[in-house]
Amino acid sequence: MRVLITGATGLVGKALVKKCLEQGIAVNYLTTRVSKIEGTAFYKGFLWNPASNEIDINCFEGCDAIINLAGASVSKRWTPAYKQEILESRLDILETLKRGLEKVEDHTIKQLISASAIGFYPDSETAYYKEDHDTAGTSFLAQVTEKWEAAIDSLLPLGVQITKVRIGIVLAEEGGALQKMVPPIKYLVGAPFGSGNQWQSWIHIDDLTDMLLFLIHKEITGIFNAVAPNPVTNMKMVKAIGKQLGVPVFLPNIPRFVMRLVLGEMHTLVFMSQRVSSKKIESLGFHFEYVNLEKALSNLL
Ligand SMILES: NC(=O)c1ccc[n+]([C@@H]2O[C@H](COP(=O)([O-])OP(=O)(O)OC[C@H]3O[C@@H](n4cnc5c(N)ncnc54)[C@H](OP(=O)(O)O)[C@@H]3O)[C@@H](O)[C@H]2O)c1
Repeated sequence: MRVLITGATGLVGKALVKKCLEQGIAVNYLTTRVSKIEGTAFYKGFLWNPASNEIDINCFEGCDAIINLAGASVSKRWTPAYKQEILESRLDILETLKRGLEKVEDHTIKQLISASAIGFYPDSETAYYKEDHDTAGTSFLAQVTEKWEAAIDSLLPLGVQITKVRIGIVLAEEGGALQKMVPPIKYLVGAPFGSGNQWQSWIHIDDLTDMLLFLIHKEITGIFNAVAPNPVTNMKMVKAIGKQLGVPVFLPNIPRFVMRLVLGEMHTLVFMSQRVSSKKIESLGFHFEYVNLEKALSNLL
């Protein structure tokens, strides 16, 4: 089997590539950076520039599926121009994949598995979201995700089956949200945000990469939440990280206005609340290795 991965140089992409190669799955990948191009039989890089719809269509050769993980990071300051980039990069990426694939006669791509995000769901401290909740929230991220998911469907007319994966907060050793949360807690200046009651639906990176490969091997289509079975509140997350690091968390909660001053509109990332269900993928036989936060943190920290 050979897969084409976009965003292969990112946090999730790097872990996924490693797992593919360990399992004997060959990888083609698309990158916007010449410096990231490598070329071996099992790991072949191809250049693209989605902003101008440029793509090396040799990237599709021999591939059975595309795993789309690319997109401008949401953890840079949300200026009006950068907000535009967060959305447009995702739409350009899908448009470029579509235009590229249209040029390939008798392509072999059976399935597109694309990242989406649980940011799709409305902000709520009480709702428990399953995949059949089809009304997006009103926040900037929810609106981006709604348009992103609609764009994913644009590959359907090319005979490609579609799988959308609404990813939760990815916990990893090499970067991402957890590694941003750790330093203040470690140096005793960490505290929950706001009431601390907002739900954080997290997933260990190993479970996420296993789930992506599960969806490919079984050719499963549809929408799937990629979150661990036990989401926690922000208060519980911060305290659990403190416990794992062996340090107390004693400071009062950080009010919303302070975070708005520090992060601007991006502060919504740490205040939004989504309690999301993992039951659908589990009902298809997927088993999470990291069901509880404590086990994930003990593995990662
Ligand atoms: N990490 C999380 O907690 C989380 C949560 C929910 C959803 N997600 C989604 O899951 C996907 C993977 O997440 P990640 O954390 O691995 O992301 P990441 O580390 O930021 O990596 C994303 C990759 O996308 C490519 N990229 C960035 N800007 C681009 C642009 N303008 N045009 C084309 N490619 C661009 C880059 O690859 P090159 O430099 O090689 O081109 C980069 O390595 C993302 O779409 C993200 O939105 C992540």
